[in-house]
Amino acid sequence: MTNKTDRIIIFDTTLRDGEQCPGATLNIDEKLVIAKQLARLGVDVIEAGFAFASPGDFEAVKKISQIVGTENGPVICSLARAIKADIEAAAEALKPAVNARIHTFISTSDIHLEYQLRKSRAEVLAIAQEMVAYAKSFMTDVEFSPMDAARSDPEFLYQVLEGAIAAGATTVNIPDTVGYTTPSEFGAIIKGIIENVPNIDQAIISVHGHNDLGLAVANFLEAVKNGARQLECTINGIGERAGNASLEELVMALHVRRQYFNPFLGRPADSQESLTNIDTRQIYKTSRLVSNLTGMLVQPNKAIVGANAFAHESGIHQDGVLKNRLTYEIMDAQLIGLTDNQIVLGKHSGRNAFRTRLKELGFELSDTELNKAFVRFKEVADKKKEISDWDLEAIVNDEIQQAPDLFRVELVQVSCGSNARPTATVTLRTPQGEELTDAAIGTGPVDAVYKAINRVVNVPNELIEFSVQSVTAGIDAIGEVTIRLRYESRVFSGHAANTDIIVASAQAYVNALNRLYSALQTQEKPEEVSAQKV
Ligand code: KIV
Ligand code: ZN
Repeated sequence: MTNKTDRIIIFDTTLRDGEQCPGATLNIDEKLVIAKQLARLGVDVIEAGFAFASPGDFEAVKKISQIVGTENGPVICSLARAIKADIEAAAEALKPAVNARIHTFISTSDIHLEYQLRKSRAEVLAIAQEMVAYAKSFMTDVEFSPMDAARSDPEFLYQVLEGAIAAGATTVNIPDTVGYTTPSEFGAIIKGIIENVPNIDQAIISVHGHNDLGLAVANFLEAVKNGARQLECTINGIGERAGNASLEELVMALHVRRQYFNPFLGRPADSQESLTNIDTRQIYKTSRLVSNLTGMLVQPNKAIVGANAFAHESGIHQDGVLKNRLTYEIMDAQLIGLTDNQIVLGKHSGRNAFRTRLKELGFELSDTELNKAFVRFKEVADKKKEISDWDLEAIVNDEIQQAPDLFRVELVQVSCGSNARPTATVTLRTPQGEELTDAAIGTGPVDAVYKAINRVVNVPNELIEFSVQSVTAGIDAIGEVTIRLRYESRVFSGHAANTDIIVASAQAYVNALNRLYSALQTQEKPEEVSAQKV
């Protein structure tokens, strides 16, 4: 093993670090849907979760290992603190994966040692070695992270890394846990490690970083120039606080500027060979899937996947692009899988055409999922004559969403207008199968619907985010509603798509309430969950 791989390894942590942001909590089936898409995207490693954190996390790692961790599939990884019980849980959950990795970590910065771990440097050094060796007794592929590495004393960091590699770590990951470092500093840390850790040639150097100062991607690119060969990132950059380094930004920077980066990987500058294994045409779809399932909206001006990323508003820019796209565009939108929103299907399209187009778009649905999605497609096609790829994607993402089906919307009816008091009537089917109807007056139709739903569900909550986006242009467009609500210290999200935005709003709210209701039923205490997150 050497730290000089000839390409960049993409380690996706959307399902572990990404899932740690408030409200992004995914259930097992949703994690599986994302893991399958990450495999299609071509990531090398999927950090599927933190097996010891909860029975749900354990099951998710196990299921992803079984279904996505195939011979030619990605490496499936579980996080584990440098504690025996954590490592054992990770090893057990990863058993079904053909290629598995345990990722174990312990803090190395003085501030963490003094206030969090209350351990001496000598103790941490010993634990790191002992626990890497323990992880190694379960599998050959072991990653070690000295948490808060970017704020650690470099000499101590070198010692810990040398010990971890001697104990069997095949990847050593350098986290900027608090998003504090700057690009040149981070580059210098990687250079220092290569120059001062005697056995570094026996491990891949990885980087992990948070975006508190908006520098995570820039830091990683500098790390690559200095010898890092694995990048730990998330789709849409979601994650703890300001998030993690964004996968799509890293991959596209390495792709668009490969002539600049090639020499740092020992390639001729003009080599056209890709620097990562990522199928860039899957990027947009993956971004939408993660956004829909987590309820974490993508800001319109977000690089690569934001709604405005390829839109030219200024007259001068539009003029230039019409004459030659390269005047103002550094990459083709099709490269990330943005189609021209072609109109492909209509109400006379049959199941076969529907299935074929979905396949072309990269959706592999089970027969049950396909049947459900086809029924929705027909409903939408009755209201909207022309169904584009984006509509299809919204329909399918909505149908395969796996919010627990506890309360079900049976009827939504509103009355509103300039001189009317917005009034809503809703009928919900309860988890016990009873149909309950209630009505309420609100400040607007959506408020009235939400008040009526609350009267039925009767779980106190605070709506903290409500957003409507239209999937395509036109009066008959599908509207997507994403909401987030708070219950005590926890946030739950819901998403729904419908040509009627009042119905989508009701459905999104009920999806979020179902998540909340299901969490209350499993009696997972908020403090327990957050205590396990790192
Ligand atoms: O940010 C961090 O340091 C982490 C580690 C567990 C790698 O997420
Ligand atoms: Zn992290």
